Amino acid sequence: MYRTHKCGELCKQHIGQTVTLSGWAQKIRNLGGMTFIDIRDRFGITQLVFNAETNAELCNTAQKIGREFVIRVSGKVAERSSKNHNIFTGEIEIIVETLDILNKSELPPFTIEEETDGGEEIRMKYRYLDLRRNSVQKGLLLRHRMAKEVRNYLDLQGFTEIETPYLIKSTPEGARDFVVPSRMHHGAFYALPQSPQTFKQLLMIAGLDRYYQIVKCFRDEDLRADRQPEFTQIDCEMSFVEPDDVMNTFGGLVKHLFRTILNIELPENIQKMPFSEAMDSYGNDKPDLRFDMKIQNLTAQVQGKEFKVFDEAEYIGGICASGCSEYTRKQLDELTDFVKRPQIGAKGLFYIKCNNDGTFRSSVDKFYSQDDLSKIATEFTAKPGDLILLLSGTKSQTLKALSELRLEMGSRLGLRDSTKFAVLWIVDFPLYENDEETGKLNAMHHPFTSAKKEDIPLLDTAPEKVRANAYDLVINGTEIGGGSIRIHDTEIQRKMFKLLGFTDEQAESQFGFLINAFKYGAPPHGGIAFGFDRWTALFNGSDSIRDVIAFPKNNAGRDIMIDSPAFIDSAQLNELGLKLK
Ligand code: AMO
Repeated sequence: MYRTHKCGELCKQHIGQTVTLSGWAQKIRNLGGMTFIDIRDRFGITQLVFNAETNAELCNTAQKIGREFVIRVSGKVAERSSKNHNIFTGEIEIIVETLDILNKSELPPFTIEEETDGGEEIRMKYRYLDLRRNSVQKGLLLRHRMAKEVRNYLDLQGFTEIETPYLIKSTPEGARDFVVPSRMHHGAFYALPQSPQTFKQLLMIAGLDRYYQIVKCFRDEDLRADRQPEFTQIDCEMSFVEPDDVMNTFGGLVKHLFRTILNIELPENIQKMPFSEAMDSYGNDKPDLRFDMKIQNLTAQVQGKEFKVFDEAEYIGGICASGCSEYTRKQLDELTDFVKRPQIGAKGLFYIKCNNDGTFRSSVDKFYSQDDLSKIATEFTAKPGDLILLLSGTKSQTLKALSELRLEMGSRLGLRDSTKFAVLWIVDFPLYENDEETGKLNAMHHPFTSAKKEDIPLLDTAPEKVRANAYDLVINGTEIGGGSIRIHDTEIQRKMFKLLGFTDEQAESQFGFLINAFKYGAPPHGGIAFGFDRWTALFNGSDSIRDVIAFPKNNAGRDIMIDSPAFIDSAQLNELGLKLK
């Protein structure tokens, strides 16, 4: 028998019992006549004691144990003289009577404890060792509990979990496809799904009514902290629904997960915000509402005062940071450098300090009187002690920069507490967005998204004004999920493809199967997909989704543990009918 108990379960009530534990030696301390070893498994840590006076031979063997050796011990549970109140087993220790070394270990490349000395790169190379740390395992356990609760909830709502294929044809989610060459059909390729979008729609046409799947998706795009080339969605689709039906059903899922996993009761109705309001007030479509600091449009108010920079700008806007009027020159320079970074792209930053004596000091004093500044402060309902920060330029770029500046100030002021949650739906998205490079229309969501009924006449006259039946779920400034009510009419779907620049032939060759299926009585349907890694990372308080993925890829899309992607040999290439350029 390897164990009678796990390493995290013994406490005072077991004192006097003889027990057997198995696990890894985490910490070894030789103190003269006594040797202490912390034994660890996935459930916790227990202190072992070897006493040279009572059993010299055993103590000798214990001293040969190195970090990460796998051992089995039997002995009596005893009360500790110096207790550790930080861990569950901290009041006891095991007076070891027998010891087996089950396996030796080479010296691990970093310390496998909560506080490790290993950098990201080395921990990823030896991810199986990194995963021995309880804090890392915690993310995977949370992920498991969340998946289980997702299944519980959706099962009760009548959803059926159905698998869809991975070797398919391109799905239009806006990223590049990963492709897989076919051995049996030289020159032909499968594409890995960017999402099961077309299949879940086919399942609705098939009459399955409510589908879900916790499923891998593959997208060849530039990676960030919240993006992996393969990631997991909670993918869902329902028949005979309107937007509110979907938002109510999945608002229920959101509330269920907050309740069962975090013990947080969300309000009955999750807030909804139109896309246009999110853009105007927060500068992006995934506002972090843990704090207010709304963007104000000051264009009309500040122009016409002979200040050329503002007079020539399409848009001038700002935010008000509470209690920051004493910001030093250095702090303001830092913020200026921040907004001037190429990825943010502002040309400069203007400030108005609302002094505690009721006066104002600004970087635009030359052009604006105290009265002018006071009027601007009123727009923000600014108080003495506040700092107003202004940016100007084109509307879209300035809003984007203000959004980044707002988040930066939120972080500086400690307003983005990872234990607080602000949940909302963004609704009324535009159906199309303009591709700035090509000037062409792109589907903002994907080409199967339907237009709001009242906006359909605009499809022919002003397509950029058409709003979509689409919705995103945003939590703490992260897009956790998105979906829409789909087009279920062949003609409208054809029109959509045409507006997106597909010729009839292209639409037919890429999505002929779907257009064809629509001819056979497609029910009205819609759905949503949640980024499961993002949601878990958020609940785990992690900055990166890598923390909740067992074997993630690095920012260059590499798995440095298995060394992938890797070259394949010429025989394999030949078999696939491929030649490298
Ligand atoms: P969308 O493309 O918005 O919608 O994806 C849904 C959610 O998946 C997450 N996500 C990602 N997570 C990690 N790494 C990535 N590379 C990544 N890309 C997306 C996000 C996002 O909100 N078929 C539609 C859904 C639908 O219409 O029903 C779709 O895939 O959290």
